Amino acid sequence: MPIIYLNGSFMPREEAKLSIDDRGFIFGDGVYEVTRVVNGELFESGRHLTRLSRGLADIRLDPVESLADIEDISRRLIADNALGEGEGTIYLQITRGAAPRTHHFPPADTRCTVFLSAAKFTVPHDKRATGVSVVTYPDIRWSRCDIKTVNLIPAVLAKQFAVDHGVFESIFVRGSAVMEGSHTNCFGVLDGELRTYPSSNYILGGVTRDVVIELAKELGVPVAERAFHVADIPRLEEFFVTGTTTDVMPVVEIDGKPVGSGTPGPITRRLYEALAARLYARVPAGR
Ligand code: PDD
Repeated sequence: MPIIYLNGSFMPREEAKLSIDDRGFIFGDGVYEVTRVVNGELFESGRHLTRLSRGLADIRLDPVESLADIEDISRRLIADNALGEGEGTIYLQITRGAAPRTHHFPPADTRCTVFLSAAKFTVPHDKRATGVSVVTYPDIRWSRCDIKTVNLIPAVLAKQFAVDHGVFESIFVRGSAVMEGSHTNCFGVLDGELRTYPSSNYILGGVTRDVVIELAKELGVPVAERAFHVADIPRLEEFFVTGTTTDVMPVVEIDGKPVGSGTPGPITRRLYEALAARLYARVPAGR
């Protein structure tokens, strides 16, 4: 039985109970993180915690658990859920707690709800080998996409649109700019240069995105945080999406039309291999 953490206690998942007044439930008033676990180690924990702390400040939440506590809780969940070997994820969610429904903040002494769970994870290596298809979708989100809020209706609708079309992901388009996926960031190769929408309030600053930009620089791949547009799609040499549960995923088809050669491209491959070398620093890649 999985063990989870809720508001100060570790307990079997089935025993966890939340108030129907929880503001996460009522308003989507909270933030979350998904962190990769490889052979018992948290991947890029520092970057996830930095983003979490920024998100908490942005929505003015101040849980009793410190960032160090959250890391300790994550490690205990890795142990208690036997994730010392293989692949897993830690899910974390912090909401403004339970209080009678008012749009404004509840009384200052309301305890934030803090929930963490750990689960095994199957890496989508089969999809990576062939590459995946995606569709474009209008970016119907708000103007603070940099906050990893649990208010995910646009992402849910976008991903369902992908599922309805039998493809892997939907790519948000704002005006004419290619932004990011429903739960991934995206990169294109144009004239040999790797391009991705700049860090801003209009995309989530992905941890994997940051690592990939760093790896591209290390590998000497020209990289620019510069938008590309729908009109550029037919000219793309390569395209891929990135994320904690996606790694680097080659995209071989956008809206039914092939990307470049229609097979995973060489820059995409090199970047995945470089990411895998970091993910599996202590064991052979693909384990
Ligand atoms: N989603 N963009 C969006 C909108 C996301 O929701 C995510 C992650 C990313 C990639 O970020 P990272 O590399 O830090 O995982 C980009 C998580 C995995 C989720 O919602 O499950």
